[in-house]
Amino acid sequence: MGDGLLAFGDEPAGVSQYLSANSQTLTALLSVNAFVKAKPDRAERGVRCNEHPSSVLIDPTADTARPLADALAYRWSPRAFADRSVSPEDLRTVLEAGRWAASSGNSQPWRYVVARREDADAFAALLACLNEGNQRWAKDAPVLMLAFARRTNDAGKKIFYAHHDLGAASAQMAVQAASMGMQVHQMAGVLKDKMVETVGAPDDMEPMTALVLGWPGEPDTLPEDLEARERAPRTRLPFDAVFFSGTWGEAVGE
Ligand SMILES: Cc1cc2nc3c(=O)[nH]c(=O)nc-3n(C[C@H](O)[C@H](O)[C@H](O)COP(=O)(O)O)c2cc1C
Repeated sequence: MGDGLLAFGDEPAGVSQYLSANSQTLTALLSVNAFVKAKPDRAERGVRCNEHPSSVLIDPTADTARPLADALAYRWSPRAFADRSVSPEDLRTVLEAGRWAASSGNSQPWRYVVARREDADAFAALLACLNEGNQRWAKDAPVLMLAFARRTNDAGKKIFYAHHDLGAASAQMAVQAASMGMQVHQMAGVLKDKMVETVGAPDDMEPMTALVLGWPGEPDTLPEDLEARERAPRTRLPFDAVFFSGTWGEAVGE
């Protein structure tokens, strides 16, 4: 692949260093914080997407049972993205969040191949690795990534938790992106053989998922069926269906 593909971040970026270097992102961060802290009763539904105050009404903030860290509450998986570039610096910051994920034995089995939309050839090549349903909306995102999990360690032993750890790295990127006013949308709808072929991934790398990264956009830019899904309420299983105290089925107390 050409220059359009970026390697995974290799430069630590401290928060203060990052913020002082990027006042636009500071503004985005503050607006995310203000947006989440001022989260209205969802019945009011009176808040517009924070990145698009004049845009279509949407309140994606999670209706959490307990107060969460702002970026966790604000994170969601949009399909509509604004026509706004993600700078190389912001991209590297999001990648850096993935680099610092925890992993089994610190094996760090995640690998990502990244293309910005500005790098049209690389972006088109990566886009062709998504299934048709995902291509419909992912084509308008400013950054696309293909994610791979390493199968074996340096000693040739299977890395049993590679899938788990790749998920952790992607989740960290998603939360970092949300903290900056952006969003990540992960996808399992990929063409795995094509992923390997397109980027020349080594045999030891298992093609897994794709991710887009960008600034959330207006739902009414989507085809009608996708717009409806974008506006649908976000739901989760009940707390007591997934967390148990001591023994299976026992509710965790208040
Ligand atoms: C591993 C993984 C695979 C996913 N695959 C797709 C996909 O192929 N297409 C899609 O539109 N969304 C996909 N999603 C997004 C989920 O549908 C979404 O995370 C879920 O509905 C919860 O919504 P939320 O992220 O907004 O909270 C995927 C998410 C994950 C974590």
